[in-house]
Amino acid sequence: MLSSLPAWRALQAHAESIRHVHLRDWFAGAAGEARSTAFTLEAAGLTLDYAKNRVDAGAIALLHELAQQAGVLCKRDAMFRGEPVNTTERRAALHMALRARPEDGFQAAGVPVAAEVEAVLARMARFAGAVREGAWRGWDGRAITDVIHLGIGGSDLGPRMVCRALGHLGGGPRLHFVANVDGSDLAAALARVQAATTLVVVCSKTFTTLETMANAHTARAWFLRQGVPEDQLARHFAAVSTHREAVAAFGIGAEQMFPFWDWVGGRFSLWSAVGLPIALALGFDAFRALLDGAREMDRHFAEAPAAANMPLVLGLLDVWNRSFLGAASRCVAPYCEPLELLPAFLQQLEMESNGKSVQLDGTPAACGTAPVVWGTTGTNGQHAYFQMMHQGSHWVPVDFIAALEPVHAVPGHHSKLLANCFAQSEALLRGRTADEVRAQGVRDEALVPHLVFEGNRPSNTLLLQRLDPRHLGALLALCEHRTFVQGALWNINSFDQWGVELGKQLAAPIARELEGGPACAHDASTAALIRRARAAATAAAATSAASAASAAALPEEIAG
Ligand code: F6P
Repeated sequence: MLSSLPAWRALQAHAESIRHVHLRDWFAGAAGEARSTAFTLEAAGLTLDYAKNRVDAGAIALLHELAQQAGVLCKRDAMFRGEPVNTTERRAALHMALRARPEDGFQAAGVPVAAEVEAVLARMARFAGAVREGAWRGWDGRAITDVIHLGIGGSDLGPRMVCRALGHLGGGPRLHFVANVDGSDLAAALARVQAATTLVVVCSKTFTTLETMANAHTARAWFLRQGVPEDQLARHFAAVSTHREAVAAFGIGAEQMFPFWDWVGGRFSLWSAVGLPIALALGFDAFRALLDGAREMDRHFAEAPAAANMPLVLGLLDVWNRSFLGAASRCVAPYCEPLELLPAFLQQLEMESNGKSVQLDGTPAACGTAPVVWGTTGTNGQHAYFQMMHQGSHWVPVDFIAALEPVHAVPGHHSKLLANCFAQSEALLRGRTADEVRAQGVRDEALVPHLVFEGNRPSNTLLLQRLDPRHLGALLALCEHRTFVQGALWNINSFDQWGVELGKQLAAPIARELEGGPACAHDASTAALIRRARAAATAAAATSAASAASAAALPEEIAG
């Protein structure tokens, strides 16, 4: 039991003993310099400054003891060896093999995987190159100008985020990501493209996901309505999946099917063929550089000593903040506009991985697990929720992320961006006392309490030299391994996601009811909602004017 480990109990006592120490105290005088040096790490071109956390050397030492007693590094080694660490699904979690080199020798359950991985990468490189160079053409001989990527969750968030982050590299077809089963998502994409010059990538590990399959079938019907001959549809579809039979049944041939494997979890899959849109939009060399950056971080995680191991230290701090200091959420604030989709990607990565309440053996978790992960880019967030971060009634740890070199060197902008990033973490640390408020010339005593900042609010700062594929790859692998460390400490399975099943199961009969099927048993609230939706649909169908208006509201491409 995690909470009965000696280091766990020692950490609880330690947390209590430093509860009233202010971060300012730890930074006072020469100690601050030493602290800053000791609590800064470098790995794979990234710098982590974790000095602004509410930890002292004693806490860090105890956290490392906890990692040792909880077997975190043994679990890491088992994951790297390709053992079935995803115990409930009896699968390995071997996303590191996707960015490895053959000589790294990765095996899933004893079977070498490099040859298959390299073969798929080679096919992706050829296909992406052909589309980008105009050698792969649509049915009427014109080159592909647009790619619509259909996928959701792990089959969407990773490639969407990377394509946004590295969009400045450009050069390929226009990318459109469609995830939602809300028809407005697909309708908006279809309205922007021409069928003859559009390629649709259907990306689904299972090839059964409701949203993706509904969008794929609607897209197929749209191509036919747009005059693409059925026997030419192959020019306009590719698939990414582990499920060959389902892809074939949909009508996409083996030559346009890019496989991956059950040892790749959806939220860890952007390094696989799920990253095809990255190769299409940015070129295969950029995709390879992304993989190389991730591999560098993998090697660091596997080999660096514990005290210098960036993912390990970050994961330990996360557990410290969550389980010992009680922070129920964490804010991710990239001071880098191209990373605007990173918080959404991390939400799935961390909350789907570690939002669990049972340990590996099925017994209740010993403590609170995954915090709520949220955030937006800075400086935007400063003008929205940072008020609460500074003066709210509870504190939220923050990850500040920034690139030292700008993506777009617009004179005078980058220094302002970085200045704000650093100032926010400084303000959160330091706060402002009543005496300082008065010393700044505030004469109205009634105002003073409103101008006081408590400070003592923790943050990490992660710096990339620049936002390029290699550094982004390293950053994302860091986030994956940090998530693994959290789960290993909490003794939960970070690689399953049973929590998304129930809602999916219940949606199927409700969909049938909404489409006129017989009513099933529901709680009174749900039954009333279904009745309302059915009544609205019936009213719309009965009123020809309403019905015409509703058809007109659909774009022509979908309404047919
Ligand atoms: O939401 C649950 C989930 O299974 C995620 O884990 C996954 O990334 C997503 O759905 C998409 O699944 P698929 O790739 O099979 O369509």
